[in-house]
Amino acid sequence: MPCETNEELVDLLESVRGTTKLGKVADYIPALGKAEAKDLSVAIYHVENSCMSAGDVEKLFTLQSISKVLALAFVLMDHGEADVFELIGMEPTGDPFNSMIKLETHNPSKPLNPMINAGALAVTSMIKGSSKDEKFDRLLQFIKLLSNNDKISYCKEVASSEFDTAHLNRAICYFMKQHGIIKDNVEDLMEIYTKQCAIQMHSMDLAKIGAVFALDGIHPETGERLIRDDIARICKTFMVTCGMYNASGEFAIKIGIPAKSGVSGGIMGIVPYQFGIGIFGPSLDEKGNSIAGIKLLERLSKKYKLSIF
Ligand code: DON
Repeated sequence: MPCETNEELVDLLESVRGTTKLGKVADYIPALGKAEAKDLSVAIYHVENSCMSAGDVEKLFTLQSISKVLALAFVLMDHGEADVFELIGMEPTGDPFNSMIKLETHNPSKPLNPMINAGALAVTSMIKGSSKDEKFDRLLQFIKLLSNNDKISYCKEVASSEFDTAHLNRAICYFMKQHGIIKDNVEDLMEIYTKQCAIQMHSMDLAKIGAVFALDGIHPETGERLIRDDIARICKTFMVTCGMYNASGEFAIKIGIPAKSGVSGGIMGIVPYQFGIGIFGPSLDEKGNSIAGIKLLERLSKKYKLSIF
């Protein structure tokens, strides 16, 4: 299904492109620093299999934290709710995504939710498989099914750039290993996690994955159930409460749809039973969310009354 340029969407996108100047491209993962701050794209994939887009849709970007939702859905299917939430909590933190402060101050010491780095690392450590390669390949296969695109792969440069510099994530892993939350070899876990975060796609693929969640786990193109409906619901709820990190409350008030962001500048949005939205805009605000992407979603939500609240 080709994605057609939509003039109304082009106007909306161009009306917010200027805000890309107010943000900054993430460079704590050095390879991400090469992104062009002015880039901006949006795709909307309707559950009835029509698609429209605007902007720099030919640009590929890595999922980064957006992958946390997909890994959560996968692990919930592998293990079931009880096992996953014994190790990882369900509450928003109000802290930045890479903060580890609450790991120490909360008792029992477990990550507060699967959308912060600590929780996501614990989720990734639960992916079943007999080797690190098998674990990653199983997750990648699942993401290929979600996007209905067999060409999806990961960016080696971004994965190894993060692997070489992820000292804070390693520290979080060692803390969790000490407390029995993870059991894996930390280097193996870091390899799977950094590859997971470096899975790359176009905004149209991301919009299509959003449409699967919009249909409670059924793929709009193939009609196949890929995620159990109760699991899709859990994922969407986490997106509302923690998907935009410590900006989730303001995002819920101003925009009001389940969404998940990544430091690459990607955002996946879900308008239940209507469509999935895929955005790429690598210039970020101070909380790590795409600055123009949020503005674009705000205008879209106001114009088309998308808030679920
Ligand atoms: O673990 C990290 O720091 C990155 N791979 C992902 C962080 C991220 O995308 C946070 N998002 N806003």
